[in-house]
Amino acid sequence: MAVYQAATSEIGGLFPLLAANGIPAVGARIGYDSLSGGAFYAHPIEWVLRGLATNPNVVVFGEPGRGKSSTVVAFLLRMMLFGIRTLISGDVKGEYSPLLRALGITPIALGRGSWARLNALDLGPLRSRWAACSVERQVEELEGVLGRWVKLLVALAEAQGYRPTVTDEATLSAVLRRLVGAHDGYTELTPVTIPDVQRQLADPDPQLWEGMRFADRRQFLDVLRPITDALGNLISGPLSGLFDVQTNFELDWDAPVQSMDLSLLRSRGDQAVAVALTCLGSWSSMVTDLQDDGEIRIVVRDEVWRQMRLGLRAVQAVDSDLRLSRAEKKIQILVMHKPSDPLSVGAVGSQEVAIAKDLLALCSTRILFGQSTRVADELAEDLALSEREQDVTTGWAMERIGRALWKIEGRPGYKVQTVLSRTEKEIFDTNAQLRSVSRERRTDWRAR
Ligand SMILES: Nc1ncnc2c1ncn2[C@@H]1O[C@H](COP(=O)(O)OP(=O)(O)O)[C@@H](O)[C@H]1O
Ligand SMILES: [Mg+2]
Repeated sequence: MAVYQAATSEIGGLFPLLAANGIPAVGARIGYDSLSGGAFYAHPIEWVLRGLATNPNVVVFGEPGRGKSSTVVAFLLRMMLFGIRTLISGDVKGEYSPLLRALGITPIALGRGSWARLNALDLGPLRSRWAACSVERQVEELEGVLGRWVKLLVALAEAQGYRPTVTDEATLSAVLRRLVGAHDGYTELTPVTIPDVQRQLADPDPQLWEGMRFADRRQFLDVLRPITDALGNLISGPLSGLFDVQTNFELDWDAPVQSMDLSLLRSRGDQAVAVALTCLGSWSSMVTDLQDDGEIRIVVRDEVWRQMRLGLRAVQAVDSDLRLSRAEKKIQILVMHKPSDPLSVGAVGSQEVAIAKDLLALCSTRILFGQSTRVADELAEDLALSEREQDVTTGWAMERIGRALWKIEGRPGYKVQTVLSRTEKEIFDTNAQLRSVSRERRTDWRAR
């Protein structure tokens, strides 16, 4: 046994009964455990492998401004050291863009004043890798892509209050298959946009309605009118020009962090944001299909309630991503204010509410930042917190930014303070806008 000696003046004080927290020192070093004073590391996949957690999903709760997004950024930057890539699945406030720029990545911004256009039916990450795939692989991938496109169009129709039928889905699938050129011995895929699909539905040729077993053209038009109009609204409504033309930018899927800035989209309304989020969600599952074995990815959904607003399919999509995360080696991070967030969505039905409630159960790791007492009661009930843990979230965690109670499965929570480096603070300062506004104001007044 090794023996160490030191004078009490050097050691200061020793408390032999203080044990380390039992969380292995692997992955991202987040900050310190305020109970033991030791460093606190996070690596949700490693936690699953070591039996600490049953899944690698993480949910982050906390009042605005408590340091939720900053902790997520610290986590992904520090996981980058292990070659782990991150997808910010929709940056609604544009907070992550300075971070991407600092890493030498140009973030894509969609919306007012931006030239960027996103085809909802884009092949996404598959586009650049298509040519390199073998023919068998192409056939396989195409099936997957067609399935996802149908789901996406269905979700977009649902966002307008129309719940598509099985006939709608079958017809969409047939139309997409034709448009993309899947009938011929293709090697090149024809790009497809929503107006292409809408035109086929609004003006079907005999082959299409006969193939779908309709009595005549009239019947086809009548049965498919709602879905045709739903797609039509995407082309002519407030979303026009955003998602219905060819994508005109390249996203580098091999970049360490990738994100799409949606802050300029807000002026087009919540639906525009929701559509973009849905496209990104469908792309992110494509990336997984393409990734080489063994690669871990982090997928961040900050302000996740916006996506949930789309309705049942959107909630289901998040749900199925969370269920697949173990198999797909993904660390899914959901960030929200309070548990009832996904439920505060406009016209949700009981089915959505039930699934949204289940989402919590699918996240082994819960990071609880400071909360007001009222929300804390709700949290304590939904997450079965002890009284002491609840006090930590309303008291200790509120005293300083970056403090949170980390709950991994049923273990007692760890009181962790996230420590940001100076560089991290500079490139991820969500208060920067407030600051620059007040400085401008000040000079303004002085001029007057
Ligand atoms: N651990 C921390 N130490 C110091 N400052 C922090 C820390 N976490 C966050 N901040 C600062 O607090 C502000 C709000 O943080 P943010 O992560 O955007 O909060 P939230 O996502 O909970 O709304 C940011 O300007 C950030 O720089
Ligand atoms: Mg935030």
